[in-house]
Amino acid sequence: METKELRIFVYEYKSVDELPAEDQKLVKIAREAAKNAYAPYSKFHVGAALLLENNEIFSGNNQENASFPVGLCAERVALFAAHAQYPESKIKTLVITASGSRQVLETPVSPCGSCRQVFTEFEHEQQEPMRIILASGRGKIFVFDNAENLLPLSFFSDQLKH
Ligand code: THU
Repeated sequence: METKELRIFVYEYKSVDELPAEDQKLVKIAREAAKNAYAPYSKFHVGAALLLENNEIFSGNNQENASFPVGLCAERVALFAAHAQYPESKIKTLVITASGSRQVLETPVSPCGSCRQVFTEFEHEQQEPMRIILASGRGKIFVFDNAENLLPLSFFSDQLKH
């Protein structure tokens, strides 16, 4: 038996003002997108914004449904829209942010496992890292160099041997 250590790196910024201008712009767009979330059930408003290598920016927000499992997270709304329009354009950076309906959240939002699975598949497919930025209404921001940091030992299609 051997013990192996998997390390992940998280860069913590005190606030959005410390980020490079390009990232600040994406955070702003994601926060705007969160305002239009369709989240009548959870009242948890999530916004996402992503930058493609062709410089197009896509945004999304969570879309809920009375049949709860049918809803979709903000980041998948943005990712699928971008991938539908520009399947060949690599995703450089994805920002996710959240706010409550009555209060500004201060802890960076943490994407669910299903979304992480989508990030790693797209990252694997594009063969280039996808930066992930986790924010909230104010306060600290977490930055990851790639999606794999958020889902080590991810499941890929390579394992689907017929
Ligand atoms: N949600 C997102 O859209 N993204 C996340 O990263 C976390 C959770 C949504 C799903 C659901 O509409 C609501 O937040 C509560 O789980």
